[in-house]
Amino acid sequence: MPTIAHISDLHFGKEDPPVAEALLAELGARAPRLVAVSGDLTQRARAREFRAARAFLDGLPGAVLVVPGNHHQEDLAVMGVNTARSWTFKNGRISWAQIEQIRARFAPLPERVFKVLVTHHPFIPSPGDPDPAVVGRGFHALQAAEAAGVDLLLAGHLHLGFSGDVRAHHLSIRRSMLVAQAGTAISLRTRDEPNTYNWITFEAPHLTIEVRGWAAGAFSTLSLTRWRKRDTGWEKGSP
Ligand SMILES: [Fe+2]
Ligand SMILES: [Fe+2]
Repeated sequence: MPTIAHISDLHFGKEDPPVAEALLAELGARAPRLVAVSGDLTQRARAREFRAARAFLDGLPGAVLVVPGNHHQEDLAVMGVNTARSWTFKNGRISWAQIEQIRARFAPLPERVFKVLVTHHPFIPSPGDPDPAVVGRGFHALQAAEAAGVDLLLAGHLHLGFSGDVRAHHLSIRRSMLVAQAGTAISLRTRDEPNTYNWITFEAPHLTIEVRGWAAGAFSTLSLTRWRKRDTGWEKGSP
């Protein structure tokens, strides 16, 4: 059963050391199949921040994917695409070459392989966001992901955790693809929620997103969302 620990927005330079330490210990104990890291490793891209991020990543258990990167096993294919650009694109952007790579990597894989695309910037805004900031050319990337049979999209950047169907925001996309956003795992730059990460398990046709959050000096389960993949698309709730 594929289990993915989805962590994001580490922001070394603004990290909270006890939270980082606890997260390493927890993931070491839980031993996920893959740790997917969806970006913002450092606060200011300073050398010492990258060194601290490197040490943290080296401490993670098992396979680790940091965008960009790829990870492929028999029943799980994960592709990380770098959406970070210069400040002119504050919401990030995907290149035409990357869009072609999404198609080329996923399209040949059989239906039974669970296909996951990881980016830093999101494809859909958070619920109720008055100023939807989604990744540049995201719609075109979604068309490629749709054609190639992608199942799940992981991202961060918003420092807010939520999940939903891409079709809720992109009305002309017909394939149901699930979005899971992760909060900031270990940084002090939290918004309206504590440090969190997503623990994702998939056992066809069920997918569970457990949000693990930092409270009173430990990580605990904040929410558990169950999705079921039906012919008509991802359906929330029914176990
Ligand atoms: Fe961030
Ligand atoms: Fe970001």
